[in-house]
Amino acid sequence: MDGPASILVVHAHPYPGASRAGRVLLAALEGLPETELRELYSRYPDFDVDALAEREALGRAGLVVWMHPLHWYGVPSLLARWFETVLAKGWAYGEGGTALAGKDCLWAVTTGGDTVAYSPAGRHHRPFADFAPPVEGIARYCGMNWLEPFVVHGAHAIPDVALAAQAHALRARLEAWQAGRR
Ligand SMILES: Cc1cc2nc3c(=O)[nH]c(=O)nc-3n(C[C@H](O)[C@H](O)[C@H](O)COP(=O)(O)O)c2cc1C
Repeated sequence: MDGPASILVVHAHPYPGASRAGRVLLAALEGLPETELRELYSRYPDFDVDALAEREALGRAGLVVWMHPLHWYGVPSLLARWFETVLAKGWAYGEGGTALAGKDCLWAVTTGGDTVAYSPAGRHHRPFADFAPPVEGIARYCGMNWLEPFVVHGAHAIPDVALAAQAHALRARLEAWQAGRR
């Protein structure tokens, strides 16, 4: 396969002290080789995203992971800011904007709603897949390969054992991706 085996995890959690699911997922990624973690909320508490530094990090990666809790059916505001700032015309899209083309993109998201809530009769009225297109569209517009998203539903109530299994599964996916690149 083509491209570097490096992974960039762009993590956006506005309240890391209150995070349970995201914290367990992140802990499972510790020690993964050739993997860089960029914690947006600690790095840019004033939302002053360093676009050049972020683009450099993206340039090193073959797989970009966008990881966050779902907030109002979308990404936390600093990740939206990151999209606006970093993914500029002429770099990420438009004429000459091919920096991300061919890289893989994995959306790793936790949701408060469980699978029942994300069904026609549930609280969110629609299957979760109906909420993916805005994020998927960003990746595809930049020419990235959209991988099957990694979703942990019911993140408030998921038992510790099931959450640990999910974290293990996430790590296994990243390891498998790296193995496929070598
Ligand atoms: C401001 C805000 C908005 C949220 N919006 C949604 C939502 O639209 N859909 C949903 O399923 N959960 C929503 N949640 C729940 C979070 O997704 C959930 O708390 C998080 O995924 C749990 O992960 P954590 O333990 O790492 O914080 C929201 C939470 C907050 C604080």
